[in-house]
Amino acid sequence: MTHFLEVDDLEPAELARVLELAQLTPAPAVLTGRGVALVFEKPSARTRNSSELAVFQLGGHPVAIRAEEVGFDRRESVEDVTLTLAQYHSAIGARVFDHKVLERMAAVSPVPVINLLSDLAHPCQALADLLTLQQHFGRLSGLKVAWVGDGNNVCRSLLLASSLAGISVAAACPPGFEPDRGAVDRARARGIDVVVTGDVAEAVRGADAVCTDTWISMGQEVTEAGRRSAFRGFTVDPPVMALAAPGAVFLHCLPAHRGDEVTGDVIDGSQSLVWPQAANRMHVFRGLLLWLFGSVL
Ligand code: CP
Ligand code: NVA
Repeated sequence: MTHFLEVDDLEPAELARVLELAQLTPAPAVLTGRGVALVFEKPSARTRNSSELAVFQLGGHPVAIRAEEVGFDRRESVEDVTLTLAQYHSAIGARVFDHKVLERMAAVSPVPVINLLSDLAHPCQALADLLTLQQHFGRLSGLKVAWVGDGNNVCRSLLLASSLAGISVAAACPPGFEPDRGAVDRARARGIDVVVTGDVAEAVRGADAVCTDTWISMGQEVTEAGRRSAFRGFTVDPPVMALAAPGAVFLHCLPAHRGDEVTGDVIDGSQSLVWPQAANRMHVFRGLLLWLFGSVL
């Protein structure tokens, strides 16, 4: 069974194929008469809407479920919920707090389990980030991406996706907020350059894309005060963007906090690709489902 819990569950050629399938028009109706369950333990604007629409565009029927309705490990076990959903659905997407919940789902599921964001990873976002860069620059290999801020779930998946596509990565993070060592090693093992630094200018200098995300991810609200002081100086503002390569772009998975991780003039300015990036969430989810099901159903 093929699950998609982190972006490097795909090999480089498979990633390239998913991005190609994301742009296939018209999309073949490979999910006619089939369901895809989408379970959410956390809020979502982009992921829920883009994945529901993608399933619909392939002829399938999405069923979005709030975690309270199924009560993971409260009403019944994660495993029993997963096996129940698999009786009706061809795939199960889930947004969870603890990545281990996805691993437990994948361990028992007879249908693909897709990570819609966990504390560890956000692989569907990374697919959209790469598609956005590919559409803008006409290539991926040889680009340099700079990450500024929290080396979080979105950073990790972008780092690993970049490693599959030949993109070098420089991450500027405060001490203690760097991307996890295992992911950095995995990315380097694919042959890309990865720099992890505390110096924003060092990371951004010459970058083709500058990326950031919230300083306070969902579930981290209790640590907000400490995080705010740790991330002082890690705002992407016009002087930071000026260090990047000529023609550099700005990416943010959203939701954004103007004045914190990015200033309004950058995210709303001419270098920002955040709206095509958000739109691409739908296209890559369709591409992923086509890759999973196109030749199977
Ligand atoms: N980027 C992203 O995953 O957005 P949502 O949390 O709104 O789904
Ligand atoms: N890092 C953020 C991403 C939201 C899409 C979070 O986990 O809340």
